[in-house]
Amino acid sequence: MNSISQMPLVETLFAAAQERFSFHMPGNRHGQSFPGWLRDNLWSLDTTELAQTGDIQNPTGKVRQAMDLAASFFGAGHTRFVTTGTTTSLLTALATACPYGSELILPRRVHQTLLHGTALLNLTPIWAEIREGEQVEQALLRTLKANPQARALFVTSPGYDGRTVCLTELVQLADRCGTIIIVDEAHGSHFAAAPDLLPPSALAQGADLVAMSAHKTLPALTPASYLHIGHKALATGKIKADKLGQMLKVFQTSSPSFVIAATLDYARWWLEHHGRQAVENLLALIAALDRGLPPAIKRIQLPGSDPLRLTYDYSRTGLSRPQVNAIFDAGRVDPELVDLTRIILIPALDTTQDETKALASVLQTVASTAPGAVPVQIDPAAIAEEALFDQAPPSAVPCSAVLFGDLKKTAIPLHEANGRIAAEAIVPYPPGIALIWPGEIITADRIRAIKRFLAADITVYGVRDPDSSSVVVLE
Ligand SMILES: Cc1ncc(COP(=O)(O)O)c(C=O)c1O
Repeated sequence: MNSISQMPLVETLFAAAQERFSFHMPGNRHGQSFPGWLRDNLWSLDTTELAQTGDIQNPTGKVRQAMDLAASFFGAGHTRFVTTGTTTSLLTALATACPYGSELILPRRVHQTLLHGTALLNLTPIWAEIREGEQVEQALLRTLKANPQARALFVTSPGYDGRTVCLTELVQLADRCGTIIIVDEAHGSHFAAAPDLLPPSALAQGADLVAMSAHKTLPALTPASYLHIGHKALATGKIKADKLGQMLKVFQTSSPSFVIAATLDYARWWLEHHGRQAVENLLALIAALDRGLPPAIKRIQLPGSDPLRLTYDYSRTGLSRPQVNAIFDAGRVDPELVDLTRIILIPALDTTQDETKALASVLQTVASTAPGAVPVQIDPAAIAEEALFDQAPPSAVPCSAVLFGDLKKTAIPLHEANGRIAAEAIVPYPPGIALIWPGEIITADRIRAIKRFLAADITVYGVRDPDSSSVVVLE
């Protein structure tokens, strides 16, 4: 008897995989991107290390061969397969580059792993805060010039919205200072497939350590990640493969998944042989989408950004975030995220015309449901709140002491939190960037921003109970 109804998660996942148009991670389109011979047999690849396969934790044999092929394709000096995600790759990269208690330059807009890695390694963050009119590149360069003693500098490129950071000048300066450049290229594993059509990859620009989430844009299983050492960093001894291997053992399970590793091997092969054609096809589908876009919806594509990332500004429609979400849901199209003004979609590289047609139709519905042409209003409060993500509030207690120490904590209403020290990260999702790190002082402007996010139905991690809106602070 089929008892699937007694397995709530299994039942829901089966339903979600059917009759929906996926424009979100993973890039394997519910497994459809894998050829039948692989998809139908993936489960038989679940094994422990065997004499004939080699060991993922101590790469030898066929495992080593597959990793070397990936290094060669992506343009790295050394590559490791990480089967517990870029989260693990970034922790490993940080521990490889930064001795315990050293200094790290980073912008505020980083994945939460940076917060955990900084705390675990007791690093002192040197914030590359973005000043008005500045790009992130300028902020990073300015901060590195002022702090050439920093052990490492962290860059996210591309971001969720496809925006990339030009690394050329940063790499030159970092080489002179001996600073290690770590790049979170979680969203850019596909760049190597068509260097003339897509932005240059971090490895091509000379970065020292690069982490890629294969599962975000490639036909790979979640959470498959490549962790690379750049050619120059390996050759000069700036980064040692042995040290990276030791650190990976700290953060990755001692039973890494061969199924996920197999998809890392497959994704590299597929990208090498079919990636360029897939990128061309997808660009053509996106061009058709662009041509049919209703005037109320504007595609945001900054110079140098990933042309395969779809970021739409819906603010002219006058619709709220829940309204837009409801229209997408009714059209059975699943976007990656909808924030207060933007819809971000991650098309898989082998997205079909049927899928982009479904998306085009939903975008038309969003535009036609709009109450009327809404003049673009620049809300100064929203702009100021957005800028808060690029600035650090004052810090009172090191993040590591708050996260791992035995300090007394208490939950208080959000409206009483002004001036108190946050005991937990406060992270609106989307965009998933911490507005306040543990140990930082909660300020009145950040409380206002949190209230607006909650009012717009945005989940704010760290706000305990959305009704009473309590936050946890140090006593
Ligand atoms: C920019 C960025 N970095 C790192 C990560 C973590 O990657 P993973 O899910 O592979 O652990 C994510 C995940 O969403 C991300 O968006």
